Amino acid sequence: MNKHEDLLKAEAIMRKNDRGTYTVPTHGLYPFQWNWDSCLSALGFSHFDEERALVELETLFEHQWEDGMVPHIVFHEPDEGYFPNTDVWQTNRAIPTSGITQPPVAGFALHALNQRSSNRSAIADRVQTLMGKIHAWHQWFYNFRADSDGLVAIVHPWESGRDNSVDWDEAFERVPTEGVSPFVRRDTSHANPEHRPTDEQYKRYIWLVEKFRSLNWDNSAIAKESPFQIIDPGFNAILIKSALDLADLAESYGAAQLATESRSMANRALDGMDKLWSEKLGQYVCYDRVADHQINSPSIGGLLAIFAPVPPKRSKTIADTIRRLSEVTEYLVASHPPGTPEFDELRYWRGPVWLIVNYMIAVGLRRAGEDELVRCIVDDSIALIETSGFAEYYGPITGTPCGGDSFTWTAAMVIEFFNLFDTFIKAEA
Ligand code: DGY
Repeated sequence: MNKHEDLLKAEAIMRKNDRGTYTVPTHGLYPFQWNWDSCLSALGFSHFDEERALVELETLFEHQWEDGMVPHIVFHEPDEGYFPNTDVWQTNRAIPTSGITQPPVAGFALHALNQRSSNRSAIADRVQTLMGKIHAWHQWFYNFRADSDGLVAIVHPWESGRDNSVDWDEAFERVPTEGVSPFVRRDTSHANPEHRPTDEQYKRYIWLVEKFRSLNWDNSAIAKESPFQIIDPGFNAILIKSALDLADLAESYGAAQLATESRSMANRALDGMDKLWSEKLGQYVCYDRVADHQINSPSIGGLLAIFAPVPPKRSKTIADTIRRLSEVTEYLVASHPPGTPEFDELRYWRGPVWLIVNYMIAVGLRRAGEDELVRCIVDDSIALIETSGFAEYYGPITGTPCGGDSFTWTAAMVIEFFNLFDTFIKAEA
């Protein structure tokens, strides 16, 4: 392991993908600003350029919708290399955006940026402005997407960030493929098609976009009419963790009302999470809100749930499930377990390891006192970048680099691991 060299490489990738006020996830494949990529990347910046870290969040929130939603893509500059582009979304905004959202990691990120700041009073106004905007986004979730348990649903697989997860194979069948306007994918010219979702899945992704567009991007109508409505435990855990962190941040600024509202949203959802628990699989699972049942699928969204402060007996079982995964893979944590019929080692979210998820799971495991397992996850993550470069994701058995390369959030997570988990990392060889 060469910490110094790894950090230099990581920083160089972040600088290379920096477009001044926002970063692109990687050149070619993702040429715009992505919501959760940006927030997680800001964590990386915070260790070597605090100002740039805050600007990353500020730029994203300049494009928050009037109803509170924060879109998953901001199309700052035209680039024909991506599909679906602005002509497909047609959200009619001065600077075009997509019309769906993504996992709300901003609250968690802002809290961390504030804590790490070398001059908190200098950034206090900016932090408080962002705090209000993030809270409005969280309220948007509860207004438009929550059920009586306070758990929120995604209406498009892209909202989860785990686009082609096995979790919704069955539910996704409900989304038609007929009537979709003909299109040419661009992702498969930038990345190996065998690492990406299938054409059949793309037709359904685009059917949903066209459906929501036909509803004029009215979020009440979308929430009612989407044939795809999934309560994803990982997504909900991120929202809960962000809302709790935002409550702490608000308290430190004396914003009592925001803190109370935020904490009560989070605590209600945390209680609600129990309806997603599967004793049989030893983890949380998704819930299909349209069909009204739990989904019997052991993907990583149910392990990522440990990012939220779930009860100790749940953390312990999740840790045991991850330990079992380590017996059948070389690198933790596979996004779907080998040995299941759907496992596909290199295809996006159907098997590969993602460093951002490893990081959030490590944060949760550390809170739960699972230090030895944290060490394994951090070591595996660093081993992956050292043997296979800063890829978008990796095969959990072979360590094959997959998807895009020179990836911003992979670099950011390496910087996080070395700074936050240094005591867990093996001594340099
Ligand atoms: C893509 O284009 O691959 C994204 O996941 C959608 O945001």
